[in-house]
Amino acid sequence: MIKQYLLAPGPTPIPDEVVRAMAQTMIHHRTPQFSKIFAEAREGLQALFGTKNDVLTLASSGTGAMEAAVSNLFSPGEKVLVVNGGKFGERWQQICQAYGLEVIQLKVEWGKAVKVDVVEKHLKVYPDIQGVLIQASETSTTTLHPVREIAQLTRNGPLLIVDGVTAVGVLPVPMDDWGIDVLVTGSQKALMLPPGLGFVALSDRAWARTEKAKLPRFYLDLKLERKNQQKKTTAFTPAVSLIFGLHASLKMMQEEGLERVYARHERLARATRAAAKALGLDLLAPENPSPATTGVMLPEGMDGEKLLEYLRDRMGITFAEGQDQLKGKIIRIAHVGYIGAFDVLVAIGALEMALKKFGHPVKFGQGAAAAQEILMESLD
Ligand SMILES: Cc1ncc(COP(=O)(O)O)c(C=O)c1O
Repeated sequence: MIKQYLLAPGPTPIPDEVVRAMAQTMIHHRTPQFSKIFAEAREGLQALFGTKNDVLTLASSGTGAMEAAVSNLFSPGEKVLVVNGGKFGERWQQICQAYGLEVIQLKVEWGKAVKVDVVEKHLKVYPDIQGVLIQASETSTTTLHPVREIAQLTRNGPLLIVDGVTAVGVLPVPMDDWGIDVLVTGSQKALMLPPGLGFVALSDRAWARTEKAKLPRFYLDLKLERKNQQKKTTAFTPAVSLIFGLHASLKMMQEEGLERVYARHERLARATRAAAKALGLDLLAPENPSPATTGVMLPEGMDGEKLLEYLRDRMGITFAEGQDQLKGKIIRIAHVGYIGAFDVLVAIGALEMALKKFGHPVKFGQGAAAAQEILMESLD
């Protein structure tokens, strides 16, 4: 038997409380029993998104919620600015292009955050930009973008549409306070659920835009969803079991307290970064690292794909690989969702052993000790 540890940035491990909630007998969704659970989950989501507006729950993965943001807010041919600093920035671009929008692409070097003054310049050069689309946390490069500062630039201008898939529930992204117009996430990250739910919330001015937006939509019609979800139901058959799980996971997050949830993610990320450095490895995003996942550069010449295979198949540890130009060169160690201090130690202990196996000089315990110094803070 090889015990399995899921330490990739989604899907993430699922707590027993959530598993049990999802195992409940199926109920009909047009009933007061479903509405009660759904109404409570909706309140929990509003606290998580930091909004007084509706957070809509969709039966889709995160990309469905991204697509809904685009198809509900724009008309064919409108100009948008896409910050493309990784695979998910690229996804915004692909969605916008699929819907016939004119995309101005702001390319950012992988592992770097977009510069606020560069965004500002683009908005000056193209004053007819209707929307800015960005990731709060670009999972593929383990980088945070400065969304709060960019929201200052868009406040009275284009809509700011933020993919918060590995940010919501990991760090504060209070959309109303910051002036974010659309915030999106998915179930299989900080929410500690299986994949299958997408979430999206709109500001008042984004809702006003939905009245004019002419792109085609049917299943992901947010106005229709809002009308139904305000009545504590959904337009179409919801993913009932996942919503049971959502209700349970939000309750867990409320009991821990959102501030403590954010502090835990930040601490686990710091511990992981310290461990990587103690092992002589560079970070992929040293300047603006995401607290959801740590990208670690592998020693020159090491075959990252083989290393990850070894970790997964021989040691039971699933990390994530690098994508595109980073394939084989990095590993991504996630600490998002139902992850605690000792999961980090498992990750680092296994990494030390795998690195040694692959020829990197490792003194056992060196990375773990650096992590432990930081993880001790949680015991104060
Ligand atoms: C930042 C980010 N955006 C979007 C997505 C896409 O979400 P999904 O795979 O749930 O469609 C992911 C998934 O990893 C992500 O990390």
